[in-house]
Amino acid sequence: MTAQPRPSAHPLPRNGYDVAEVRKDFPILSRQVHGKPLTYLDSAASAQKPRAVIDAMRRLMEEDYSNVHRGVHTLSQRSTDLYEAVRDKVAAFLNAPARETIVFTRNATEAFNLVAQSWGRTNLGPGDEIVLSEMEHHANIVPWQLLQAERGFAIKVAPVDDRGAFPMDRFVDLLGPRTKLVSLAHASNVLGTITPAAEIARICRERGITVMFDGSQAAVHMPVDMKAIDPDFYVFTGHKLYGPTGIGVLYGRRETLATMPPWQGGGDMIQSVSFKGTTFKEPPERFEAGTPPIIETIGLGAAIDYVTDLGMDAIGAHERALLHHATMRMEQLEGARIIGTAPGKAAILSFTIEGVHPHDIGSLLDRAGIAVRVGRHCAEPLMDRFGVGATARASFGLYNTVEEADRLVDAVKAVQEFFA
Ligand code: ALA
Repeated sequence: MTAQPRPSAHPLPRNGYDVAEVRKDFPILSRQVHGKPLTYLDSAASAQKPRAVIDAMRRLMEEDYSNVHRGVHTLSQRSTDLYEAVRDKVAAFLNAPARETIVFTRNATEAFNLVAQSWGRTNLGPGDEIVLSEMEHHANIVPWQLLQAERGFAIKVAPVDDRGAFPMDRFVDLLGPRTKLVSLAHASNVLGTITPAAEIARICRERGITVMFDGSQAAVHMPVDMKAIDPDFYVFTGHKLYGPTGIGVLYGRRETLATMPPWQGGGDMIQSVSFKGTTFKEPPERFEAGTPPIIETIGLGAAIDYVTDLGMDAIGAHERALLHHATMRMEQLEGARIIGTAPGKAAILSFTIEGVHPHDIGSLLDRAGIAVRVGRHCAEPLMDRFGVGATARASFGLYNTVEEADRLVDAVKAVQEFFA
């Protein structure tokens, strides 16, 4: 049974958000795939890049490039100024209390490893407990398991319910006198579920528990505010925020970062080095050993300017309308199962089709020019929780349209008919 789509209860915002104009900023969106217009619905894996990001990186290399923090010559000073200006931009983007709370990393994964190896190795030991959730990405599981093998603490796992929502009572039940750390997704990369970060952080603060959020999928869909949430750590990555690969961000509360030892040694993170002993700089430099990703950092700065100009609220409203429309239509496909229906979720639509392997869905959609991710989404425990080997996942970004959402559902319907 396939009924005609009902009109959306949430029409696209009439707030000046002009998606046709936005799309012109992304050169790749005008290409074709298999002779069909590209329908890019894989922004949760990695988002496409606006011309502003591409140009900023090229301009740096053509006009201003040199190493940072190391030279008195004009280009080194210029590159250093541009690089450090991005730290201010990131601080403003996160409404962080100070620029010194922003550590540049290679990606979100590296930020987790930094916290595990520096804070975790110093603070976690036998008898301690940390709390993760069933919907964590492997990047917020494996670094803790690697440390666990060495330090011998316990990992507890907060459940999600059948809708993929995060029951706070079940989470709070896991907290006890031995809980040292809570580390949770702010938005799930599979379910789209958004956790109440400010409330979670408040509960943890009251109990003296260190708290960390994976903002990789949240910071791209909504404003995030470090003063409002007040976590110890918050991470996100540049390439999902329409910036380049190779650059991520660790926000760390100033007092927490100040207690942490270096995790990687090298140039740029030291005060002085001798064979008798070495002293280290204050954060954030203490955690940025070696030549940093200078070009990528400049690209991230341009990406932040780009999304800030559009407005994170406007982006979120646009994407929510797309998600609502796609969900309503997908629900009408018999045999389609949407994994993750928590209220207020981010614009991520994971689904399975009865009798069709997700990889076949992905391949057939690709023939229609539609890019979705299929597989386990670096979240194998969550696949087990929902009893699925894999899912297909459409993720919406600031450049997607209602027509693309329709194209997705029409193509999924064609896949069903192909296998019928
Ligand atoms: N973490 C990225 C995803 O969810 C790669 O697709």
